[in-house]
Amino acid sequence: MKINRKWVLARRPSGAVAQEDFRLEESAVPAIEPGQILIRQTWFPLEPAMRGWIADEPNYLPPVEIGAVMRGMAYGEVVESAAPGFSPGDVVTSFSGWQEYAVDQGTAAKIDPDLAPELVLSALGMTGMTAFIGLNEIGKPQAGQTVVVSGAAGATGSVAAQLARIQGCRVIGIAGGERKCRWLTETARLDAAIDYRGEDVAARLDELCPEGIDVFFDNVGGPLLDLVLDRLALRARVVVCGAIVRFGDSGPAPGPVNYWKIIQKRARIEGFVVLDYLDRVAEVRSELAKLVESGELAYEADVQTGFENLPSALRRLYQGQNLGKQLLRVD
Ligand SMILES: NC(=O)c1ccc[n+]([C@@H]2O[C@H](COP(=O)([O-])OP(=O)(O)OC[C@H]3O[C@@H](n4cnc5c(N)ncnc54)[C@H](OP(=O)(O)O)[C@@H]3O)[C@@H](O)[C@H]2O)c1
Repeated sequence: MKINRKWVLARRPSGAVAQEDFRLEESAVPAIEPGQILIRQTWFPLEPAMRGWIADEPNYLPPVEIGAVMRGMAYGEVVESAAPGFSPGDVVTSFSGWQEYAVDQGTAAKIDPDLAPELVLSALGMTGMTAFIGLNEIGKPQAGQTVVVSGAAGATGSVAAQLARIQGCRVIGIAGGERKCRWLTETARLDAAIDYRGEDVAARLDELCPEGIDVFFDNVGGPLLDLVLDRLALRARVVVCGAIVRFGDSGPAPGPVNYWKIIQKRARIEGFVVLDYLDRVAEVRSELAKLVESGELAYEADVQTGFENLPSALRRLYQGQNLGKQLLRVD
C-alpha cells in the first residue's frame, strides 16, 4: 500500500505561526476515478498569506478547517491519469495542499518540464503575477517616477521592484539586512536599498526621495507604511499588496497615523487580490518569461528540503530568513 503523508491544520494560531499549529498524518494513497489524476507533489511554495488562511477570520478565501490538509500550491508529476489530456510523467502545478500525493479533478496546470521549478514557482508563478498586476494595474508607474518597494528582497517585492526599474523608474527597495540590500543593488540593479533593520528609514527616504514617492508597492504595512505616507508625492499610488507585519511574534502593528496625507497629496491607496486576475496568467507569464530570458529580470529562491519541514519553512517568511521565493523540495 502506498502511503500519503500530509500536513493538516491542528489548531488555529495565536500570534506567529507555530510548528504545533500543524500535524503530520499518514493515509493510503487513494485510487483515482474517471476524470481524475494522481500527482506526486515534489515542490511546495510558501506564502505569507497562509497565516491568514488558517486564522478564524473573514478573508478572501474561507479559513482552512481544523483537521483539513493545509491549503497551498504544489508542483509535481502526474503518476496516474484517468483524465483526458494528462499522461503519467506530465509536470503540473495545482492547488492541492501540503500532501505528497494529491488527487486532482483534471484542473491542474501543465508546465513545461524544461523550466526549473524555482522559476515556475517564483517569477513565472503567482508571485511574478502578483508583482506584475499590483505594479501595473494599481501602481501604474511612469518612467522617471520614484517607486519604493517594501519587502523588496522577497519573492513578490523583488519582481515588482525590477519591473519598475525596467519601466524606467527610479526604484528604492526596503529590506532587512545587508545581504538582502546588496542583492537589491547588485543583482536586481535598483537605484538604492534601505536596510530597515540597520538604518534610519525616515532619514534615508528623505535623502533618496527629495521630490516624494510616486508609487509605494507595500508588502509589509505597519510603521514602514506610515513613514512612506508621510513622504508621498502629489497623486501618488500606494499599492497594498501585503501586510506581513500583522503576522509577527509581537502581534498586530498599529494602524497608520499619517493616513490623512492621502488627502493632502490627492493620493490613492488600493488593495488587490491576484486571484481576481487569473484570466491574465498566460499573457503575464509570457511577458515575464521574455524578461527572464533576456536577463533583465533576476529571480532568487530559498530552497529548504524535506516534506516534514513544511511548517518550519513557512515560519522562515515571518522571520525574514528567505531571499527571494521560499520553497520546499521533497527529497
Ligand atoms: N495581494 C495579493 O494578491 C498577494 C499575493 C501574493 C502575496 N501577497 C503578499 O505579498 C507579500 C510578499 O509575499 P511573498 O510571498 O513575496 O513573501 P516574501 O516577501 O518572499 O517573504 C516575506 C518577507 O517579508 C519580510 N518581513 C517579514 N516580517 C516582516 C516584518 N515584521 N516587517 C517587515 N518585513 C517583514 C521579510 O523580509 P525582510 O528580511 O526584508 O524583513 C520576508 O522575507 C506578503 O505580504 C503576501 O501576503 C499578496
